[in-house]
Amino acid sequence: MFDKPIPIKRIHARQILDSRGNPTIEVDVVTETGVLGRAAVPAGASKGRYEAVELRDGDLRNYRGKSVLKAVRNVKELISKKLLDFNVFDQNGIDRLLIELDGTENKSNLGANAILGVSLAAAHAAANSLNIPLFEYLHVNSGKYVLPVPFMNIINGGTHAGNKLSIQEFLIAPTGAKSFSEAIRMGSEVYHTLKDILIKKYGVSAKNIGDEGGFAPPMSFTFEALESLSTAIEEAGYRVSKDINLAIDAAASVFYENGYYHIDGERFTAKQMIDYYKQLYKKYKVVSIEDPFEENQFESFRELTRELNNRVQIVGDDLFTTNIKRLTKGIKLGAANSILLKINQIGTLTEAFNTAKKAFENGYSVMVSHRSGETEDTSIADIAVALSCGQIKSGAPARSERTAKYNQLIRIEERLEDNSIYPTNKIGLIEC
Ligand code: PGA
Ligand code: ZN
Repeated sequence: MFDKPIPIKRIHARQILDSRGNPTIEVDVVTETGVLGRAAVPAGASKGRYEAVELRDGDLRNYRGKSVLKAVRNVKELISKKLLDFNVFDQNGIDRLLIELDGTENKSNLGANAILGVSLAAAHAAANSLNIPLFEYLHVNSGKYVLPVPFMNIINGGTHAGNKLSIQEFLIAPTGAKSFSEAIRMGSEVYHTLKDILIKKYGVSAKNIGDEGGFAPPMSFTFEALESLSTAIEEAGYRVSKDINLAIDAAASVFYENGYYHIDGERFTAKQMIDYYKQLYKKYKVVSIEDPFEENQFESFRELTRELNNRVQIVGDDLFTTNIKRLTKGIKLGAANSILLKINQIGTLTEAFNTAKKAFENGYSVMVSHRSGETEDTSIADIAVALSCGQIKSGAPARSERTAKYNQLIRIEERLEDNSIYPTNKIGLIEC
């Protein structure tokens, strides 16, 4: 596609801080023509068991065991030698080489964090070499770009907050917006209205926020969060489920123990959880439910997907971990109908794009996602547009590591003018 190869001249890595104040890796790829591509790697808290390995040093005297100096060394000493003079436009070749050099199934040798830093920085260097934005360089289809509906996580629970909410994320999706920037305005208005409501009801401490910028009020029950969101949407002048839809990420592996789900002070079986989610759909019109069950419960995912008859988006995050093999298993069984795409769960851009392609081919929708530990890197904004998947989650419309992605999408929308669409009244494959 790009006639003249440009060789990679130098690869450098360093340790920087993520939004939680933990170390993470940043990689610079420089071409022979002197063009720089830079990428930083995020980190999860409620990580899936089947994610590629994030290499950390484990030396308690250094960042309390969390330093990533080994991963940095792997880039500087091993990977940089192998990729020297490699054509920066050959993303497949670069990623294949990284996978082979690592040699393990889960990237535990070099570290998925080291590998992703290089994979992503190379893509940036390639796009910069052509003087085009990353989304254009990575664009998978011809035709108009689709901007994503932003799923804004404005009440935090689970491992992302210090409250008693079992469900990790309560999100709003402004599906009634006519453009991405309008969706952000609607989300921001609801966010600030919600803040006032929470302070009135729960006291001033309710404005404390969780890891993804959403509020972390002292709530214990799911309905409290969904009621507050509904009230905030209405008080901000919008209609629930018409202008703005509700969504959750249960991240249920975290509250699952010995066959039971611990939620709202109850102990539920998988069957009872299916009824529980059906109620949430009936009462609050929740249109997207992520990780409703523990990460090995493919059968439960299938049951819920069937019961809700594809009226609700059932998203596999920890279930699939952006892994094509796990997605393929899910597709065969009919488990879920959507996949969360987190590039650091798998480790290379090529693998993540192949997984997304597999999803599209099989009628599964794709939602691109940040991690709870983020950086100022905005690659996921471009990736969502490149894939035209129509959905992204990047936390609340607050805190710079979250808004960096939304702001990048505002810029992309502006740049594309008439060459993009916002999927009004659509969540993935579902009309709403
Ligand atoms: P994590 O959470 O980044 O902490 O894994 C995000 C999610 O579960 O979607
Ligand atoms: Zn999740």
